[in-house]
Amino acid sequence: MLIVLNHKMNLTYQDVLDYEKKLNDRNYKDTVVVCPSSAYLPIFQGNNYKLGSQDVSAYEKGSHTGDIASSQLKSLNVSYCLVGHSERRKYYKECNKIINQKIKNLLAEDITSILCIGETKEERNDNKLKEVLIKDIAECFQDLKKENIENIVIAYEPIWSIGTGVVPTNQDIEEVVSFIKKYIKNHYQVDIKVLYGGSINESNYNTFKTITSLDGFLIGGFSLKVEELKELL
Ligand code: PGA
Repeated sequence: MLIVLNHKMNLTYQDVLDYEKKLNDRNYKDTVVVCPSSAYLPIFQGNNYKLGSQDVSAYEKGSHTGDIASSQLKSLNVSYCLVGHSERRKYYKECNKIINQKIKNLLAEDITSILCIGETKEERNDNKLKEVLIKDIAECFQDLKKENIENIVIAYEPIWSIGTGVVPTNQDIEEVVSFIKKYIKNHYQVDIKVLYGGSINESNYNTFKTITSLDGFLIGGFSLKVEELKELL
């Protein structure tokens, strides 16, 4: 199982020093990937987890103030990177074309992309769920080779579930995950890992764990509670 921790824009420097110490003081049977704010990446160099970034630049290097390049991530031992998170799509107007470019930049550095896709409540109610997922996958995978696609991880995150406390049923998740896996197998002839993300916490985690088609989880808000998280893992 792949357990990805998305800190988003939280924690101060002192908080993070304490968090890292606590996270690293134990072995995990699952692969734990921590995605702190970029400024804190150098702090997370422990052996008991992998390091992920919350974002990467669509550009290679140079005059792009505020951005972080895939080569810079690589130099900080980053091995995973979130792309296409709904918050980036919404607040920074990131489209699939940009996400596709980010994936290509990550591939060049051998960093695994965790591509986030998911529908709004409206799209679900209008029966557009599959259409939305297919569009995102096709556009984000544009021009990628089969052997590259194989190494991408998909995080299915229904937008209406992120940070809301509202979660889909296990059956809903199972259906979507199977659909994504089947679609990718049929179109690209590869097997891909799929995670679920959206309002995961200590009271629903074990229920979600019974979904056999899932390969792991993307945890946001709850990932900030390092003691409770360790208990669960
Ligand atoms: P959440 O966030 O667990 O706080 O809902 C998940 C995510 O945005 O990745």
